Amino acid sequence: MRRTLFAAVLLSFSVLASACADNTAVTTVQRSYDSPAVQSTASAELRSAPKVINIKDTEKLTEDTVVEQGQTMYVREGGVLYIDTGVTLTLNGSLKVAEGGAVYIRGVLDMPEGSFFSCTGKTKIMSSGSILMGGTMWVNPAGLIKGSGSIHVLNAFDDIRCKGTVTAKIKAPEPVQIDGVTYIGGILLVNKEYSLPESYGDGLDSEAYTAYVRMKRASGYDMKIVSGFRSYTKQESTFAYWCSIDGEETASTYSARPGHSEHQTGLAMDITSLSQSYGKTAEGKWLAANCYKYGFIIRYPKGKTDITGYMYEPWHVRYLGASTAKLVHDSGLTLEEFLGVA
Ligand code: DAL
Ligand code: ZN
Repeated sequence: MRRTLFAAVLLSFSVLASACADNTAVTTVQRSYDSPAVQSTASAELRSAPKVINIKDTEKLTEDTVVEQGQTMYVREGGVLYIDTGVTLTLNGSLKVAEGGAVYIRGVLDMPEGSFFSCTGKTKIMSSGSILMGGTMWVNPAGLIKGSGSIHVLNAFDDIRCKGTVTAKIKAPEPVQIDGVTYIGGILLVNKEYSLPESYGDGLDSEAYTAYVRMKRASGYDMKIVSGFRSYTKQESTFAYWCSIDGEETASTYSARPGHSEHQTGLAMDITSLSQSYGKTAEGKWLAANCYKYGFIIRYPKGKTDITGYMYEPWHVRYLGASTAKLVHDSGLTLEEFLGVA
């Protein structure tokens, strides 16, 4: 049975029954909420529904509960919210966890589209727990979302604005094809399995290029784009060239077939040197350690050839946007693993 948040709060807080002028029984929580001024004409329900539900102590939800649209459940410093096993907290409004506040999820935190979850404190998703993420989640700089449960991204990865730390598993939505291009949670995926149409692409993505300029400036190194956008036909001749040198089998360990190169997306760049020893230089180390802050990942890491399909390329970065790049970086996974297609 689904109850409103107000009803849930009744379980743990003392209540006071009073009566309206029209003799309708009204139940109010005997607790100081930051509730809006009560209009004398308001319905009993509106009068009893606080706009902000402050959790300053321990609150355990043992039945399905709803935070209504326009309501905010605010877990303050020292406050702890438990969502019990088998229980769903549906967030039609907002949930905020302040620094020093904590949420323990054994059941489900259901976040439909339009909902908002801001975490500056700690959220622990236990193994039986999950977050169904159709709304927007802000993991703020001090925020930590951990545990062995998972966050199911229902729409797009950038619905998680991650500036804090997320170590809980993030589950991706299914791949979707739009005009022959594959996206998973809003991330364009190109690899040996997923290709691009011949006509796709017309240069470097401007956002990715701006991020590169910022990264180069911050690094203090003279990072050069050795190769940026490559069209289908350019990749065709590039791959044919390497096949003529090394044979097709070997060439395909480091060069993509036409339609299968990330360079055709305009979101990938080769930086400074196409030598594996670049990964051992100060610049290459800086790139590996810091590129995520600017929205990039090292797309073909060392020792992951069986997953990515390509040998180690310390120079090849892929733009994902800063928030998603941080999630991928912190996960320690390749893009294929992160997107659930490894
Ligand atoms: N070197 C990478 C795999 C490419 O050709 O796109
Ligand atoms: Zn490359």
